[in-house]
Amino acid sequence: MRETVRYLTGITTTGTPHLGNYVGAIRPAVQASRRPGTENFYFLADYHALIKCDEPARIQRSTLEIAACWLAAGLDPEQVFFYRQSDIPEVTELTWLLTCVTGKGVLNRAHAYKAQVDKNTAAGVDVDADVTMGLFMYPVLMAADILMFKAHRIPVGRDQVQHIEMARDMAQSFNHLYGEHLVLPEAQVDESVALLPGLDGRKMSKSYDNVIGLFGPREQVRKQIFSIVTDSRAPGEPKEAEGSALFQIFQAFASPEETRTLREAYAAGIAWSDAKQLLFERIDREIAPMRAKYEHLVSHPQELEDVLQAGAAKARGRAAPLVRELRAAVGLRNLASAATGAKKDKGRASLPAFKQYREADGLFYFKFVDAQGRLLLQSAGFASPREAGQFIAALKASRALPQDGKAACAEGVSPQQVAAALRELAESANQGAGS
Ligand code: TRP
Repeated sequence: MRETVRYLTGITTTGTPHLGNYVGAIRPAVQASRRPGTENFYFLADYHALIKCDEPARIQRSTLEIAACWLAAGLDPEQVFFYRQSDIPEVTELTWLLTCVTGKGVLNRAHAYKAQVDKNTAAGVDVDADVTMGLFMYPVLMAADILMFKAHRIPVGRDQVQHIEMARDMAQSFNHLYGEHLVLPEAQVDESVALLPGLDGRKMSKSYDNVIGLFGPREQVRKQIFSIVTDSRAPGEPKEAEGSALFQIFQAFASPEETRTLREAYAAGIAWSDAKQLLFERIDREIAPMRAKYEHLVSHPQELEDVLQAGAAKARGRAAPLVRELRAAVGLRNLASAATGAKKDKGRASLPAFKQYREADGLFYFKFVDAQGRLLLQSAGFASPREAGQFIAALKASRALPQDGKAACAEGVSPQQVAAALRELAESANQGAGS
């Protein structure tokens, strides 16, 4: 049976979602959250927001609005994991564990950091001017978000692929040093996701100041839609659907039939103002019911807070045991617990082992030695290597010493010690097979 696939998406809590975010990210994610056989994690990346924004009131307001948007758009917090990053203290703990297995040189190559360095170099100022350690460590915090929940797939835009690859590398380094604890994530770039054009026809983006608000007041949305740039063709003149921002935005909301109808209206010379009115009505039909929920949530922040607290408890149910496991793996442990789990390579060398050999009498023998090479068990002679091998296999399977005189404990070694060493060997073989 296929293992549950876990998807994870982080939403940086700066700004207010616009129609482009809705079409490109929120709507597809809400649909995806309903796939059977998956677990879906959506979280508000407010620690990441601190890297870009030092205005507390804006951080709080933006977290409120974004959380309300996702719920209004239909995300069901019962069905998914929906939480706020800063409610999961395990994330910062894991960030440190990952920091310690991440080369500085790797982070030097991260796009966001490098862009600032390039900018500084071009401006002739210190290369690290305006670089906080938050910006530098951004990929490590993001890796902690992902690895914390053993996520398999991370749906992202192209600009984030490097971060997912870094998270993968960090997981690999950690596993190499401490054993197979972390799942290696994979970026999932969906090329088919619609890139919505903005008011001026360029990609809709806050940095271009060309956005249509998602849950802005109806009248404001209407005004924005009426300011979409069109060409100067008069009513009655046929219009081009191809390359028309208005048409593309319509298409992102409409059924194929509705789209065909508008295409025909374009060819028949619909007035731009009428086309804009159609677009407004079509968008409003989808958004209006959500807007009511959005407005309710934003004006009842305690309800949202309760949803997030419940989400945090659910998420910590996964995070806390993993961090406990990882702390033990790296050696942050109860001092009274038995010392185990050296580095992987040393671990290999430090297992009990069987050694087979042939003596001058022509018979085949084996020894069983402990991790330090001390003799635990000495066999009698077997007629063939195959017989000796079968005896070893039986020993490994039963994990106890047979009373047939074919092998004897070494001086000062008890059958219990032999059994314990056999168990240790079997357990490490199981772990190896599981990874
Ligand atoms: N860096 C992501 C962005 O800017 C947001 C984010 C933070 C994220 N942590 C994440 C995305 C973990 C995916 C997985 O869009």
